Amino acid sequence: MKLRIGIVGCGTVGQGFLECLDRKADDLRARYGFEAKITAIADPVRGNLIAPQGLDIRKTIKVLAQGGKMHAVDTRAAKYDGVPTVDIIETAGADLIAELTPTDLKTGEPATSHIVRALMTGKHVVTTNKGPLALHYRELSELARKRKLAFRFEGAVMSGTPVFNMAEAGLAGVSIKEIRGILNGTTNYILGRMEEEGLDFAEALSQARKLGYAETDPSADVEGRDALAKIVILANVLLDAGLKPAAINPAGIGSITRAMIASAREDGFRYKLIAYVRREGARITAGVGPRKLSLSDPLARIAGARNALTFDLDLLGSITLEGPGAGRIETGYAVLQDVLAIHRDLK
Ligand code: HSE
Repeated sequence: MKLRIGIVGCGTVGQGFLECLDRKADDLRARYGFEAKITAIADPVRGNLIAPQGLDIRKTIKVLAQGGKMHAVDTRAAKYDGVPTVDIIETAGADLIAELTPTDLKTGEPATSHIVRALMTGKHVVTTNKGPLALHYRELSELARKRKLAFRFEGAVMSGTPVFNMAEAGLAGVSIKEIRGILNGTTNYILGRMEEEGLDFAEALSQARKLGYAETDPSADVEGRDALAKIVILANVLLDAGLKPAAINPAGIGSITRAMIASAREDGFRYKLIAYVRREGARITAGVGPRKLSLSDPLARIAGARNALTFDLDLLGSITLEGPGAGRIETGYAVLQDVLAIHRDLK
């Protein structure tokens, strides 16, 4: 079965998704009977294109990777210059919209409007955008439910590491008492490079940006707002908490110096940016801040841009999920994971 997909925002994650589709095309056809037809791309920098016949995925990857625009993929792109993204979404001839624009944690826009337009015009939605989820999860999931459409967001919290897909099947029937862990790849990478190679903060951040880990505005990573958005999303989706990010004050890693890291290491400790949500009776609390962990703590060993979460569960005690927390291919794969789940449910 061919699934018609429109991609909104074709930067790091969108291109990673296209690459996953291209690399796995034969395998996905053989294993699941899955084929993707990309019928639209909308991107304010790279240009717009609606291609009902499906665009050439390999050529698109090549052109965009070289900094080219959609005009260079297909000359018909010129026709869509200046067309508002919501109109491309509406007329995309797609079964599913992948909303992959950069996150804005203050307003959730323009992603929220994109998602609403897609759902209102009968399209399933996959997103990796944290803004709409942290701010409007209940309304958006309710809209999708009413319209009998899928709304999936595996890549929003732990990139390709399957936290929601794992919880959907694997935590059915248990109650979560606490979730605690490392949810920001950029800061984990920076702290690691500062400790292992003595890099200064700016140098380590610049490398994290080059590797595609950091947000378009990396202050959200460094100041803990990215991790806060993710723990709020986890709390609201998995604990039905109804938390608002604005009500919680996160602390970031800005105050952690190389000297502090070196001295902690001498004492057998390591700094990590820890996010948590905890249920005590009817009360749910959440927070984000740097913590000095003993090297024997499993979270102290999470390296690079990897993430980890320990779930404390009533029937199971604790389980820990660890995996990539950021990256072009890794987050592109999260989109593929959701697309395949929708394809499976439609079959
Ligand atoms: N900037 C985010 C991080 C990307 O570093 O974890 C993945 O959400």
